[in-house]
Order: sequence, then C-alpha cells, then structure tokens
Amino acid sequence: MIIGIVGSGAMGNGIAQVAATSGHQVIVYDNNAAALEKAKAGTLMNLNKLQEKGKLADAQAVFQQYRYTDELSGLKDCGLVIEAIIENLEIKKKVFAELESIVEDNCILASNTSSLSIASIAASVQKSERVIGIHFFNPAPLMALVEIIPAIQTREGLAGEIRDLMLQWKKAPVLTKDTPGFIVNRVARPFYGEAIKMMEEGLATKEDIDVALTSYGGFKMGPFTLTDYIGHDVNYVVTETVFQSFFYDPRYRPSFSQKRLLEAGWLGRKSGKGFYNYENEGPVLTSGLEENKQKEIVERILFLLINEAVEALYLNIATAADLDLAMTKGVNYPKGLLAWCDELGADYVLAGMDALYNKYHDDRYRASAMLRKYGTEKKKFFN
Ligand SMILES: NC(=O)c1ccc[n+]([C@@H]2O[C@H](COP(=O)([O-])OP(=O)(O)OC[C@H]3O[C@@H](n4cnc5c(N)ncnc54)[C@H](O)[C@@H]3O)[C@@H](O)[C@H]2O)c1
Repeated sequence: MIIGIVGSGAMGNGIAQVAATSGHQVIVYDNNAAALEKAKAGTLMNLNKLQEKGKLADAQAVFQQYRYTDELSGLKDCGLVIEAIIENLEIKKKVFAELESIVEDNCILASNTSSLSIASIAASVQKSERVIGIHFFNPAPLMALVEIIPAIQTREGLAGEIRDLMLQWKKAPVLTKDTPGFIVNRVARPFYGEAIKMMEEGLATKEDIDVALTSYGGFKMGPFTLTDYIGHDVNYVVTETVFQSFFYDPRYRPSFSQKRLLEAGWLGRKSGKGFYNYENEGPVLTSGLEENKQKEIVERILFLLINEAVEALYLNIATAADLDLAMTKGVNYPKGLLAWCDELGADYVLAGMDALYNKYHDDRYRASAMLRKYGTEKKKFFN
C-alpha cells in the first residue's frame, strides 16, 4: 500500500519516516515548496544518522521509497492518506473534500489532529465511513504511542485494520473514543493545571513542585520544566481548547499565570524564557522541601490524574489497559495511572479527592462515580 502524507511539517515528516522504514512507498504533499525542500533535506539527514547508528541498513534505499509533490493530485494512488497540516478545522475540511475527489473509493483518509473532532472532519467528505483519526506523538519515529480514533461515521472494522497496521509499524496503538483530547491530552491536564494552581496559591514554589515530581514522584520532568519544553503556545492552547470542548468543566480550567506567559511571548525554552530563564545556562532546580511535603504535592497531582483516568474508563473512552499504555508510552509516566491507583488503593485516592473537594467546594475536585465505587468496595482495576 502506498501511504500519502499531507503536510510535511514536524509530524507529517515523522509519520512519513515511520511508514517508509516499515517498507511502504510514501508520497509527501505540502502546498509550501520551501517546507517540502526542508522536509526532503531533513529526512535524508535523519535516515543517514540512523544508518550511522546501525539502526538502518541502507538509508539511500529507504529514501528511494519517497516521492514529494506540491500537488494534491500526486496522492491519487495511495491506499491510506494521513493528513498532518495546520490545526484548523476549516482548512482541514477543505483538504479532505478535495482529497476525496482525487483518491480511489477505497482509500482510507486519516487525520493526525490533536484537538479537533474526527466526526467534524469526516463530515467534509461523501464517504465519511472511510475517515478515522490516527494520532501520533512527537517525534513520531521515537514515540511508540498511536491513538486510533474512529468517528461515529467510521465503518466498523476500520479501527481494527489500522491497529494491525500500526502494530506492523512497531507502534503501540490504543483505541479511543472521539472526545476532546482523546486519551493523553485529556488525562494529562492536571499534571500541568494543578501544579500551576498550587504555585498560584503559594503552597510551594515552581522549583519545589518540579523537584517533588521528579524526585519523589519519579516523573522524567516536572510540570514547569515540561511546559517550558513543550512551549506555552502549544500547551496553553491545548488546555484552553480542552476546557472549551468540555463545555467549561472546571476540571480543565486554564490558569492566568500560563496565559500571561503566552501573551508576553515567554513561550519557554524556544524563546529563551518561560516559567524559567534559559538565556544563559538554564535553571538549576533546587528544593529544600521535606519528604512529607513533597509527598503532599505529588499526591495532589496524582489524585487528580488518577481521577481523570478512572472517569475516562467510566465513560468508556478506552479500556483500562489502553489508558495505562497511553500514559506510559505517550507521556512517559513512570506507571500507568490505574495500576498506580491499585497500588495506592482506590479508597486512599478517593479520600484524597474528597479532602480536596471539602477544602475548595469546587467541582474541579469531584471524584468520579467509578472511583467512589472502587474506593468504597476496595476494588482494583487489574488483577
Ligand atoms: N507538533 C506536535 O507535537 C503534534 C503532535 C501530534 C499531533 N499534531 C498535529 O499534527 C498536525 C501538524 O502539526 P505539525 O506540528 O506537524 O505542524 P507544522 O506546522 O510543523 O507542519 C504543518 C505543515 O502543513 C503544511 N500545510 C499547511 N496548510 C496546508 C494545506 N492547506 N495543504 C498542504 N499543506 C499545508 C505547512 O506548509 C507545514 O509544512 C496538526 O494537526 C497538529 O495538531 C502535532
């Protein structure tokens, strides 16, 4: 099967590399000639690097599987087209409608969108049953997780076919419902939001919180370091989009601290300044917090994260196994959140959520009905 890629930016290029190194012919389309040239040069460099490291036998042979085009009609023979252009619904819809007039009837049309509903993209074509979400993580060649998102229009069986293909591409696919943020960008929200809220309340400094999450919590990066790394233009916008898409549920309420960073142009590492200053050496994080205080910080974030995962399970967004796989493979959490809940005890997590609710009387801290049931009955998610 020939794989078509629409958009040769960071994601499109990465996905093309995954497909090509899995043996497919790949056709990359972009409407910007300069972007295509950059993609071509970048791809050749990446493939050569892989060969030098001994991870690829013949970079040139893989590069021969690529074709580049600045005309959408170049994708007419593809069996699967994955779109990775700008995150704008109207533009995506236009591209999908045009694509459908070019490709064969049985060509699968997929979007790599992070935040738009697949149903709304599928509505732009006649045969909407052929449309599905295939959400890769950045950088696509390195990150194993792929969220597969059938829309309500998607034909039965297509998600399974894409799952098999992703397994052939040596990815870790999970199946999720077409709801805002899918799994990872929904369940991970408290990691950022609750950290910022604790800082705003003066409960701890950003350094204290970052150090607690890495040293006591075992996370690879603390929330302030991580959002500076992701960029506040991306991270804040995802938070705001998820908040709006969930009809302003206070669980996802964004913060003014982060919004001001964005407004000031302090986008994080890439702009030299964010929560921390990167103009010279970058920050050296130190904290004198005692272990019990670190535990309190980590648990507050963890209770909310677990509550998100449990609520997603309760609403059948994904299976327990897929929810845990998504958070370990998509954002490198040290443990799956449901397994973590089993370890702590659902009754303990429930008591933590209820204590927060009693303190704030804010719906942000409402425990999931499923957490309440599991906590009360001392049940586990895995045997
Ligand atoms: N960057 C991430 O971390 C990430 C992760 C997962 C998913 N995504 C999603 O992937 C998509 C692409 O993101 P990105 O970071 O690769 O963006 P990017 O800005 O790096 O690349 C987008 C590319 O699309 C091209 N493009 C724009 N409009 C086009 C059109 N109408 N026709 C053809 N080409 C067009 C641009 O020239 C550019 O080369 C978005 O939907 C984004 O939400 C991004």
